[in-house]
Amino acid sequence: MTQAPAVEALGQGELRAAHTLFAAAIHRGPADDAAWARTSELYSPGRTLGVHADGALAATATSFPSGLAVPGGAVLPMAAVTRVGVRADHTRRGMLTALMHTQLADVADRGEPFASLRASEARIYGRFGYGIASRGRTVRVRADPTVLRPDAPRGGAVRLLRRDEIVPVLREVHGRIAARRPGGITRSEGWWSMAVTRRVEVDRAHVLAAVHTGPDGDDGFAVAHRGDGPGFPERSLEVLDLHAADVPATAALWRFLLGVDLVEHVQANLRPLDEPLELLLTDPRACAVLGVDDETWLRIVDVPTALAARSYGPADAVLLGVHDGVLAGNSGVFRIADGSAERVGPLDGSVRPELECTVAALAMAYLGDRSPSELVASGWWGAPDPSAVPRADAAFATPVRPWCGTYF
Ligand SMILES: CC(C)(COP(=O)(O)OP(=O)(O)OC[C@H]1O[C@@H](n2cnc3c(N)ncnc32)[C@H](O)[C@@H]1OP(=O)(O)O)[C@@H](O)C(=O)NCCC(=O)NCCS
Repeated sequence: MTQAPAVEALGQGELRAAHTLFAAAIHRGPADDAAWARTSELYSPGRTLGVHADGALAATATSFPSGLAVPGGAVLPMAAVTRVGVRADHTRRGMLTALMHTQLADVADRGEPFASLRASEARIYGRFGYGIASRGRTVRVRADPTVLRPDAPRGGAVRLLRRDEIVPVLREVHGRIAARRPGGITRSEGWWSMAVTRRVEVDRAHVLAAVHTGPDGDDGFAVAHRGDGPGFPERSLEVLDLHAADVPATAALWRFLLGVDLVEHVQANLRPLDEPLELLLTDPRACAVLGVDDETWLRIVDVPTALAARSYGPADAVLLGVHDGVLAGNSGVFRIADGSAERVGPLDGSVRPELECTVAALAMAYLGDRSPSELVASGWWGAPDPSAVPRADAAFATPVRPWCGTYF
């Protein structure tokens, strides 16, 4: 049997090499000093792992601490996994597998019940117990100031931010509203630095950053810039970030974006599946849906804690068997009843599960993206007792679709 590659925690001195390796793995060049000064803030001490081969770094992965909002509103610690890359001459030798196993054990040791990532390809992470837990749609809306129905909610005032206001104002508003929806996450200082400060201060890029003020103060924002990449029509705006606490704030921010001069289309990707754009528009066909993509890949690292932390809809008890091939301590039979969940036995014990799933397939239902019945129908979940399916549907249902809106 060949030995698993040795994984080590990288010191500060190797972080830039790790970042350069990751960048090359996604076909990008190394960061210059100014960009690295900002990007480096995303690397949290002690959380970057590496595999060496022949004295050089050959593979890396990191994570930063975040928090995940679960149905019911609790926010639990989450490892935001990112910067995963293996040198092109060392792929398919088990380096990612070794990194993932070490990282999951480390996240569990840190007491973080969740890990989450955004996947470059959909076939990579399921084997490690990650499942698609939220999705988003790419929309292109034909712009003109009258595009919203006259009786659509008007919302409050929208104001543009000065460049020096962008990060402090957005950070404050995001911190207040993002966790209202299952799947929302907290953004670290390093995330703001890497994603926004770098764009504004280092790239000196032009961005439109607008804030909406509702009856209780600032409750939404939109950041956009000229969409000039491949796939963008002439005179388009690309939305980079848009969070709104409610439908009036959503309507006001879209009305603002669609009314900006010299703009014929506004395009945004990974928008919430239930964002009611078509309902707000005079002509619902002015909103073209260009695609639906996976957003949150969720790894439930501590199943008992995660199942106990979320709320459940009213339903009679369900016995759910969960199988975890990587973190075996998670496996067991869980009873979901009276709005909570607890482990009631091992998988091969006397309590027989009515429904069964892997930890990855549990993630697909956990935030409310997929219903147990569609997961049973498509073979992701097993149903030794099919009568439990409607009960599980009622228990797992959430009033809103899960969505994160933070790319990392
Ligand atoms: C994706 C990547 C990290 C995989 O690393 P790796 O060290 O080759 O992965 P492993 O050798 O541990 O592969 C584990 C298993 O996953 C499979 N796998 C790995 N990458 C895959 C991919 N892109 N598509 C399909 N299967 C893949 C392997 O075939 C292997 O399967 P097996 O056990 O049945 O043989 C690496 O190819 C890479 O750096 N790609 C470019 C950058 C990137 O996409 N990073 C991820 C950002 S989210």
